Amino acid sequence: MKYSFSARTGWELEENILSRTLQDMRSAGTEIIDFTESNPTRCGFSYPADKLLRPLSAPENLVYAPHPKGMLKARQAVSGYYAGRGITVDPERLVLTSSTSEAYSFLFRLLFEPGDRVLVPAPSYPLFSYLAGINDVEVDYYRLVFDGEWHIDLASLELGVTSFTKAIILVSPNNPTGSCIKTAELEGLNGICHRHGLSLLCDEVFGDYISEQYRGRYFSLAGNSAAPTFVLGGLSKSLALPQMKLSWIAVNGPSGFVEAALSRLEVISDTYLSVNTPAQNAAADWLAAASGIQSQVLERVSANYLALRNAFECTGAAEVLPWEGGWYAVLSVPQLSDGEEFALRLLKERQVFLHPGYFFDFEEDGFMVLSLLPPPDKFRTGLERLVVAISSL
Ligand SMILES: Cc1ncc(COP(=O)(O)O)c(C=O)c1O
Repeated sequence: MKYSFSARTGWELEENILSRTLQDMRSAGTEIIDFTESNPTRCGFSYPADKLLRPLSAPENLVYAPHPKGMLKARQAVSGYYAGRGITVDPERLVLTSSTSEAYSFLFRLLFEPGDRVLVPAPSYPLFSYLAGINDVEVDYYRLVFDGEWHIDLASLELGVTSFTKAIILVSPNNPTGSCIKTAELEGLNGICHRHGLSLLCDEVFGDYISEQYRGRYFSLAGNSAAPTFVLGGLSKSLALPQMKLSWIAVNGPSGFVEAALSRLEVISDTYLSVNTPAQNAAADWLAAASGIQSQVLERVSANYLALRNAFECTGAAEVLPWEGGWYAVLSVPQLSDGEEFALRLLKERQVFLHPGYFFDFEEDGFMVLSLLPPPDKFRTGLERLVVAISSL
């Protein structure tokens, strides 16, 4: 029998040596300290079970009354969550999705023809090439540059715009650099969008996790009306519960654009109606519980970042880049010539797993990324081993 598959699914599916080795070691029962852990539900946080689970047994969950943009009460809950952060978002300008990844798909379907191009930051979230590829969208990268803090290289970004480019993706705070968009950068981006007819897709899933030092500077793009703007957020990070599967798109932009975009998004969303009713009914209760979860996560990532900085400040073996927000930290190790080879050695010899920078599209070798989520005792043990390994490079 002859099978045929689409070219867009012709991925290289073979595991790389790093993940194969990790798999083998885990199967053999070796305990690994995992600095790639991004699943908060495995990191020992205390979730208020009653507040989170009780709403799921409400009788209203047995009634199916969908709305293409998402049930109004759930959109009002999301709007209320923004209001709590001092941001006005009209519930009518929100479209709910089952995940942020799905939100990207909706926006690619809304804005792009097959073969159109999207500008994506580098370094950033490694899933973009898949999310774009599945939707027949081509990816071009623009650079984030580090000179003591991270900046968007606006000049190179604009040079990357072609007649096929339809949108710019921003991630603020970015995964993994933690960097947040600055006012002057937004002005520059609005200008580029205006000159080339582009939209901004701003992923703010880590917006609740800003380092104390940078909190005064952080802002959401939900209020940006100077360019067509889609802000993405969701419970996977705001509640540290990816399995609850509730995210949203907040639409803003010039008048005329917003209404047109919403009515088209409504049809896309109506075609799937993918957000489940219990999650929407529970949204207000869940978001009311968010601050208690966020404060634990923020305390954890702040403390782990401090431990990381202290560990390397003493040895000088690596530079820990400033952490503005998010769940990750970046280590700069200039003497590192082959990140993958080092990560493999670290795994085999010291049972510590981390991602080399290339995984996040860092241009040069010499960067490594660590999740700041692991419990402090594990994090410190892993850190001790990492310091020894880097010091002996
Ligand atoms: C920057 C960024 N955007 C989106 C996502 C995916 O979020 P969701 O679980 O809501 O699809 C992640 C997941 O880690 C992420 O890091």
